[in-house]
Amino acid sequence: MPNPRLNRRDALVGLAAAGTVLAVGAGGVAEASGWLNPQRLTSSRFTDRFEQLYGRHNGFRRNHAKGLAATGTFTGNGAGTEVSKAAVFAAATVPVTARFSLGGTLPDVADQPATVRGLGVRFDLPGEGQWRTAMVNVPVFTDSTPQGFFDRLLAGKPDPATGKPVPSVMNDFLARHPETAAAMKVIKATPPSSGFANSTFHGLNAFIATNGAGSSVPVRWTVVPMDPPGPATPEAGHDYLFDDLIERMDRGPVSWRLMLTVAQPGDPTHDATLPWPADRRTVEVGTLTIDAVHTEAPGNARDVNFDPMVLPEGLGPSDDPLPRARSAVYARSFERRTREPKSPSEVDVEKVNHDH
Ligand code: HEM
Repeated sequence: MPNPRLNRRDALVGLAAAGTVLAVGAGGVAEASGWLNPQRLTSSRFTDRFEQLYGRHNGFRRNHAKGLAATGTFTGNGAGTEVSKAAVFAAATVPVTARFSLGGTLPDVADQPATVRGLGVRFDLPGEGQWRTAMVNVPVFTDSTPQGFFDRLLAGKPDPATGKPVPSVMNDFLARHPETAAAMKVIKATPPSSGFANSTFHGLNAFIATNGAGSSVPVRWTVVPMDPPGPATPEAGHDYLFDDLIERMDRGPVSWRLMLTVAQPGDPTHDATLPWPADRRTVEVGTLTIDAVHTEAPGNARDVNFDPMVLPEGLGPSDDPLPRARSAVYARSFERRTREPKSPSEVDVEKVNHDH
């Protein structure tokens, strides 16, 4: 039996963190998914789990803790209106607030080529509307359910004796989760690019797009870099990915093409571990341009919750269970980190510019 008080509280926290804009009823966040049943999993327990891996780091995100704030624009080309009536797809330019990040709970983790890279983007639409999305540079997600992700985090928890996960524990997990083993193979088959600026970032979860005529279709989205591939320079140091991005920004703006991939009937919308067939139609809907990066500081992307359920009218949730869970857990992480004392970010734009 779900605990209504807890559910309502989770929903309220989600509402507060998302600000004034919520495309779905806050009550629906908890009720529709059912995953917040206290016997199983709550947003607090999930947030605690991130803290159990490498400790609590006051003021920082519980996942994707290491990051760099950014600002820029999105210019729609109008082609997206065929699929969705969302104002963001009109032929117009809107401001964006963004954040580049590395997956994981350590705010000062050493940059490694294979660590998941993140890009959060908030599009500020005319009037009150917003679209927030948090994308990663891997082509599928590792887990099909919130519970799977929660259990995998524990399976990968470092052994205090070695500082590393215990291989047999992770192997047991993978034997019980063939969907994760299969997703890891897809991820391994797609080597990461050399840096943030030439990474593709994928939204991964399926959403339902509705156009002005009222017809709906599932979509996923991706931003594809305009910067060319290049050689990686991991030997350049502890923060090499962020340092490279800061130096790249000195040479001018960095752009990505925003692509909507349109599902065919039968394509899985409920499971982000499953890629859609490569020949699915894609619609190029506009250009995301990052003009500037900023050390995380009060008022910039540091203080944004890139809640994937903050959607403009014309984009809505699908039967994928992850976005609703993400919304509740991001809100819990946001609520904790905003109340905590802050330490300086590992990634410091002034320092990198001074050193070069
Ligand atoms: C149940 C599944 C997931 C959970 C519980 C989860 C949890 C979290 C948490 C707690 C944060 C920090 C939020 C904050 O303090 O603002 C975060 C950030 C992030 N997550 Fe997830 N996540 C999930 C799935 C995903 C998926 C599927 C993607 C990619 C499509 C993703 C991409 C990101 C990115 C890019 C960030 C950093 C955003 C930023 O810069 O604020 N996550 N995640």
